[in-house]
Amino acid sequence: MLTSKHIMTMDDLSADDITLILDTAESFAEVNQRRIKKLPTLRGRTIVNLFFEPSTRTRMSFEIASKRLSADGVNFTASSSATVKGETLRDTAKTLAAMSCDLVVVRHKYAGAPQMLAEVMDCSIVNGGDGVHEHPTQALLDLYTMRQALGRLEGLRVGIVGDICHSRVAGSLVPALRKVGATPVIIAPPTLMPARPDVLGAEVAYDLDEVLPSLDVAYLLRVQFERATRMPFPSNREYAMLYGMNLARMERLPSHAVVMHPGPMNRGVEISADVADSTRSLILGQVESGVAVRMAVMYLLLGGADSGAAA
Ligand code: NCD
Repeated sequence: MLTSKHIMTMDDLSADDITLILDTAESFAEVNQRRIKKLPTLRGRTIVNLFFEPSTRTRMSFEIASKRLSADGVNFTASSSATVKGETLRDTAKTLAAMSCDLVVVRHKYAGAPQMLAEVMDCSIVNGGDGVHEHPTQALLDLYTMRQALGRLEGLRVGIVGDICHSRVAGSLVPALRKVGATPVIIAPPTLMPARPDVLGAEVAYDLDEVLPSLDVAYLLRVQFERATRMPFPSNREYAMLYGMNLARMERLPSHAVVMHPGPMNRGVEISADVADSTRSLILGQVESGVAVRMAVMYLLLGGADSGAAA
């Protein structure tokens, strides 16, 4: 069993919880290789995907994960809901609560939206990304992918490069790495660093080329232009020159090191097309892990072995 009923931030998870989720995900990954990719485990349980922001991989992988566990998945799309008629998030949540669902996955532009839902609903809440705050299942699938590729998590040095100040992915990945004994290093131009990078618990660097030879993982972030109030650098070309991952920079990494990106990518800005498509890139592996990790999260939150047949 997990310590908490919800996964809203990395604070909800202990190091043991993380290991349990990653180990459980490994057995579900095996199911995902079968011809018939379905288990009866969550039959009769209702899972609602409540997405108020655009999403491809997070939403699809939660949806596929719930189907593979035989749960009844319901998808909510803000643009075709009563939200466009002015209904508040709180009222939408109360409406859903009245329909007795077992788990809600929420993505919302406001940080804290998952906590608000937890106040008015009895079911488990999973944060699928809240504003610039956190995206804990992304961090879990990233840890899973690193562990698969490098055989361990403890002692790894993971460089998280780019738009740290707008990134909920970094918001969860930094504490997640710390919990498993890895070292996060955040690398960005000063305009994309948070005001107090020192309080995050990561090493802070501004020169990517200097740090590359010491990394086990180079994790690139998309520049979140939609969240910035002004252009944080003179041009995309200049950003790519100083902070973009390209073949020459990949050569500076140790030979065992890997490249990751949560997607969606801006090819030619934070990552060049040849790096994204290279054999050292784990980007599609991250997507694949996402399904198994989200199956594990749903399974464990809804009662684990007590909920019915195990994997
Ligand atoms: C990210 C997100 O939406 O937070 N993508 C994802 O979930 N895989 C990162 C981004 O939008 O850049």
